Parts: sequence; C-alpha cells; structure tokens
Amino acid sequence: MAPVSPTAAFPPGFGPGTYGASFADVYDDWYPAISDAAATARFVAKRCQPPVVIELGLGTGRLVPELRGAGLEVIGIDASVAMLKSGTRPALVADIADLPLRPSTAVGAALCAFNTLFNLPTAPLQQRAIAEAARVVTGDGVVIIEAVTGYALAEAERQSVGVSRITVDQLVLAATVVDHDAQTVTGQHVDITQTGGVRLRPWHLRWSTPEQLDSMASSNGLRLLERFADWDETAFDHESDTHISVYRKAT
Ligand SMILES: C[S@@+](CC[C@H](N)C(=O)[O-])C[C@H]1O[C@@H](n2cnc3c(N)ncnc32)[C@H](O)[C@@H]1O
Repeated sequence: MAPVSPTAAFPPGFGPGTYGASFADVYDDWYPAISDAAATARFVAKRCQPPVVIELGLGTGRLVPELRGAGLEVIGIDASVAMLKSGTRPALVADIADLPLRPSTAVGAALCAFNTLFNLPTAPLQQRAIAEAARVVTGDGVVIIEAVTGYALAEAERQSVGVSRITVDQLVLAATVVDHDAQTVTGQHVDITQTGGVRLRPWHLRWSTPEQLDSMASSNGLRLLERFADWDETAFDHESDTHISVYRKAT
C-alpha cells in the first residue's frame, strides 16, 4: 500500500522515514531520559483497560520496559525500520495514519508520546492518525497524546542555532527554522566529530495546539477527558509548554 503520509506533504527531500534515518543510531544515547518513562507508564496503566496499549511511533522502545513493568502489553508501530532495528523490539512497520489493525475489544489505549503525532506533516494527516487510534481501541478505550503546546513556538524566533551537545570530541549544533503560519519547525542537528567529520541529521515537525487537537479529536467522535502539563498530572494552564491529553469516544 502507498504510504499515507505522502512525501509531497513534506519539505523537499523530507519524508516519513526522515526522523528515523536521522536519529536511529544515536537516539538511545542522546535521549535516554528525554521524558519520564516511569511516570508515563504509571499514567497509562491507570487508564488502560484491558491492559494492552498500542504505542504509535514506538521508536527504539524507550518506553517499553516501564510500560511492561506497569503490567501493560505493548503493541508497537513505527514507520522507520532503522528505529525499530536499533531497539530490536518486535513491532509493526506501518504509518500511524494507516494502522494495519482491526478494531479490537482487547486494546485499552493508544499512546502517541513525545510529539510523535507532529511528525505527520499536515493537520489532516494528524487528524487521520487520531481517527485511526480511535478506531483500533475498545469502545471505552482512550487515546493519549503527549505533545508541545506550540504556544512558545508561535512566539519563537524564525531562525535559531544552538549547541545541543558538546564533549571533548563532538559538537552537535541544532539549527531550526520556524514557519509560524504553517506551524512547522524544520531542523538540522549538525553532528561534528573529530573522526567522523560532519553528519547532518534533519527533522521536520508540524505542531498543533491543544485546541486544534481537541477539534481534530472531536471530528473523530472523541472528547477530551483529561489534560495535564506532564505525566505526574501537574495541572495544565496556558503557560504550559507541554500537555498530556486523554480522549475517549464520546458515546
Ligand atoms: C520522537 S520519536 C519517539 C519514539 C518513542 N515513542 C519515544 O518516546 O522515545 C518518533 C518516532 O515516530 C516515528 N514516526 C515518524 N513518523 C511516523 C509515521 N508517519 N508513522 C509511524 N511512525 C512514525 C519515528 O520513526 C520515530 O521512531
């Protein structure tokens, strides 16, 4: 089947596999503690009945040990073979906007962690991924999305360059270009090492605000059940940089 996230929706040269190709070999080294995996697992386990979760954009499986430790069975989906291979987790290679799964009474939650939804380059594709998540969980199942709010990005400088990592033999510069109208950030991690020279690691995100996600969810028969600022259930407000939103079928 043709990929649902068409390459044409991305900037030239980018596509659904770009993130994985850029970061698979370094993801676990660079981002082991990028979010609180234990708190994520506690949060999901509390709301996932039956205790089977589909993780949309499994990546290297960073969250899997904690999810399993919390008593959950995990079904992983990812578009990038490179990411999955890097983590050697059993998972399905697929686009999260076109899940190769039937609706199930066995799946209690769909989890889309750490801005993964924003790898889909347009609002309609993100809406479609939310619809797919809703389709495959049980009637009482939940769809849980972790993402940046985009409030700070809306005010961010159009261009920036910063130091992402620095060691005695490596410098990683992070360069970004923000398109405020399109709600996109296009970035390059420029990875410079003494022995390896320069490696470019490109990425592209299209953010949606919490309100925009609520509208996409509502168009797919989901209603917002809960929203927090983090996995520890800190209250969300309009100063929050990130949100955890829990949606359930409106019926
Ligand atoms: C930021 S990583 C998050 C990985 C993992 N969930 C975590 O929290 O560490 C995003 C993942 O989404 C995957 N991805 C990007 N676009 C995708 C798509 N359209 N369908 C399925 N997976 C996708 C990437 O390959 C990558 O593994």
